[in-house]
Amino acid sequence: MMNRLICFSGLLLLIISCRAQVPQKTISGKYAAQVDSVLALMTLDEKIGQLTLFTTDWGSTGPTIREGYQDDIRSGRCGALFNSHTAAFTRKLQEIAMKESRMKIPLLFGYDVIHGYKTIFPIPLGESCSWDLDAMERSASIAASESSAAGLHWTFAPMVDISREPRWGRVTEGAGEDPYLGSLIARARVHGFQGDNFDKADKIIACVKHYAAYGAPVAGREYNTVDMSERVFRDIYLPTYKAAVAAGAISVMTSFNEFDGIPATANKWLIQDVLRKEMGFKGFIVSDYTGIPEMVNHGYALNEANAGELAFNAGVDMDMQGAVYERFLKASVDSGRVSVKTIDESVRRILEVKFRLGLFKDPYRFCNEAREKEVVMSASNLAAARDMARKSVVLLKNDNNTLPITDKIHSIALIGPLSDDKAQMLGSWSGAGDGDKCISILEALTDRSTKNGIKLNHAKGCAIEGNDKNGFDEAINAAKSSDIIIAVVGESKEMSGEAAARSDLSLPGVQEQLIEALVATGKPVVVILMNGRPLTIPWIGEHAPAILETWFLGTEAGPAIGDVLFGDYNPSAKLTMTFPRSVGQVPIYYSQKNTGRPYNPDSKWNSKYLDIPNSPLYPFGYGLSYTTFKYDSVHVSQKEFSTKDTLRVDVKVTNTGQREGEEIVQLYVRDLVGSVTRPVKELKGFKKIKLAPGEGKNVTFKLTAADLAFYTADMKFEAEPGVFWIMAGPDSERLQKQVVTLVK
Ligand code: BGC
Repeated sequence: MMNRLICFSGLLLLIISCRAQVPQKTISGKYAAQVDSVLALMTLDEKIGQLTLFTTDWGSTGPTIREGYQDDIRSGRCGALFNSHTAAFTRKLQEIAMKESRMKIPLLFGYDVIHGYKTIFPIPLGESCSWDLDAMERSASIAASESSAAGLHWTFAPMVDISREPRWGRVTEGAGEDPYLGSLIARARVHGFQGDNFDKADKIIACVKHYAAYGAPVAGREYNTVDMSERVFRDIYLPTYKAAVAAGAISVMTSFNEFDGIPATANKWLIQDVLRKEMGFKGFIVSDYTGIPEMVNHGYALNEANAGELAFNAGVDMDMQGAVYERFLKASVDSGRVSVKTIDESVRRILEVKFRLGLFKDPYRFCNEAREKEVVMSASNLAAARDMARKSVVLLKNDNNTLPITDKIHSIALIGPLSDDKAQMLGSWSGAGDGDKCISILEALTDRSTKNGIKLNHAKGCAIEGNDKNGFDEAINAAKSSDIIIAVVGESKEMSGEAAARSDLSLPGVQEQLIEALVATGKPVVVILMNGRPLTIPWIGEHAPAILETWFLGTEAGPAIGDVLFGDYNPSAKLTMTFPRSVGQVPIYYSQKNTGRPYNPDSKWNSKYLDIPNSPLYPFGYGLSYTTFKYDSVHVSQKEFSTKDTLRVDVKVTNTGQREGEEIVQLYVRDLVGSVTRPVKELKGFKKIKLAPGEGKNVTFKLTAADLAFYTADMKFEAEPGVFWIMAGPDSERLQKQVVTLVK
C-alpha cells in the first residue's frame, strides 16, 4: 500500500506504511483515508482517549468534577473537553494536546450553548412561542458565531425533548408539547448551529438531546423512569429527534432515563435499530454526563465496568464524564467483551468530525481572539436578541386595552421581586452569559419614563421565595400613588432547568398575595411573568386585567419588555405548552384523546374532575395582540380527496383593530375513526402573517394524505381513508371546521 503523508497542524508529518483494513461504513468518503491513517498510528489507550469527554474545572453541570484533566490531555486519555471556553483558555488547552501529547490529535471543545453564548437569547421554550423559524435559526446561528469565536466546536443543543409535563424543569430548554412544531424548530436550530459547512469557523456542531423521550418522566420528576408504548413514542416523542437528524445533526446525546426498562444509555433498540438503522444517523453518540456509571443505580449494570460494556456495545461512542471507558474499556477489550473493531468505528466517527471542523489543519482556528472581541455581544447580536425577546412575549390577557401604556399614564408603580433583577432574566443554561450585562426592567423603564416624563415609583414588595410580607406596605403605597401598576413576578432561574422539578406550579412565596394586595388598590395591574415553565395562576388569570408571559428573555429582556409595554412592539407570540388551571390536570395537552365518555359538565359519569373543568387556563397556540383578528369560515378545495390529491384549505383573516399586528394562523386536523384512536386535534400547519389595520388576507394551507399519516394498528406509518375534520383558527380551542373524506 502506498505511503501517505498526513499533516498535523503543520507540526508533524507521519509516514504510514500500512493502513488498517477496517470497514468504513460510518465514515463519509471525503475523510476516510485521513481518518484511517491517524487511526493506524494509535494505541488502544489513545483510541479510548478519543472516546472520553471530561469537564474542566471551569464549570459544573453535574455532580462530579474531574481533577487533573490537563494530565489527561497530555497522556491522550481524553480527546474532548466541556465547560472550557474563551479563545485564550481553549488555546491553552489545545496547546497541551498539540505540543505535549504523543499523537497530537486536536481536542474537541463542547459546551451547553443552549440559548446563546454570551449574548443570551430567550429560553428556548420562550423562543418557541414566536413560531418564527427564521428568527430561531438566526438565534442559534448567532450563538454559534459567538461560541465558535471563543474556541468552541460543539454545543449540547438543540434539546428537542417533547414534553407535556410542566412539573419537569427542563421544559424550559425545549420547544413545548407539539411534535409538528417541535420538529420544525429542531430543524431550524440544527441549521442555525451547523450551517452548511465549517469553512468559516463560525459554526459549531449540534448535539441532539436527550435521546430518547426524556421529556416524559413519570410524575414530572427529573431523571425518573419513562414508560410509554412504542406507538406513543413514535407518534409524539420520536419525530423531533428524527427531524434534527434529518437536518444533519452531527452528534446525538443519550438520555438519563430508562426506556421500556432499559436505560437509554445502553438501549440497543433505541440506538441501533431506530437511530442508526431507521434514521440513518452517521454521526457520533455521546452519553449524558455520568449516564454510563448511573446504570449501576438503575439496576441494569453489575458494576461500572459492566456499564461501560453495555453502553459501548449498544453504540454510545463517547463517555461524558463517567470516566468508565477511560478506566475499564481496555480490560473489556482484553477479556473479549468489547471488540477493537467496534472501538475503531467509534474513534473514526470522532476523528472524522475533527477533520470536518478543519482541526487537523489548524487546531486553533476556532480560538480567535480578534473575532471573539468583534462578535461576542456585538451591537447587531444584541439587537437580534432584543428582537427575539420581543417576539417571545405572550400576551395572555389585556382587558380594557390596559396595554400598551398610553400618554394618559403619568406615573407607574414598578413592583415585584424580578423588577430590578438582572441575572435572573438569563434563565437556566445561560452559557457564559453575564448577569451584569443584562438590562433590568427597572433600568429600561427608568430610561423610558425619563424620556416620556412619567414618574416611576419602584418597590420590590417581596422576594421570589419566603413568607416575608414586610415590603408589601411600601409596594401598596407606590401603587396608590401611580396610574398603573406593573408587577414583575415569577420563578427564580434555578427553579427550572435540570434537577428543578416542582410539584406545585403556582407562584412561589408570597408573590400571589402581593398581586392580590395590588389588585385590591383598584389600580390597573399589569402582571409580568418570568418563569421557565407553565404556571398555575388561575386567580391572577381572573383578577389581573393584563398579563404578559415573558419567560426569561435573556440579556435584552428589559428593553424588549419596555418595547412591548409601550407598544413599540405589538405582541404576536402564542403558547407552545398548555397552561393548566391546577397541577392536578397535569399532564395536560391539546392533542388529547376523546375517551369513551368525553367531558360533559352536566352529567356525572364521564371523564372529568369534580372540582375544576377539564380545559386549561390557557391552551396551546393561545396568545393575544394589541389588535384583533377576525376569522372568516374555513374553505376546503374538495370535500372528498384521494391519496394522490392535495387538499387546499383557505381561511381569510382580517385585522379588525387599530394597529398593525401579526397573527399566527393555525391548522389542525382530527381523524374521526382510525384503526387506533386518534387525538381530537393535531397541528398540521401554521402561518405567521402581518396585517395593517383593516387589512384582510387569505391564508392557504395544503394538505396531502402524507400529512395525515400515523402509526396504524399494524404499525405502518400511513393515512387511513375516512372522515377528517379540518380546523383553522387563532389557537387550539377557537377553531372553525370543515368535514372532508379521504378516499383510497
Ligand atoms: C445535562 C445535559 C448537558 C450535560 C453537560 C447534563 O447534566 O443533562 O443536558 O448537556 O449535563 O453539561
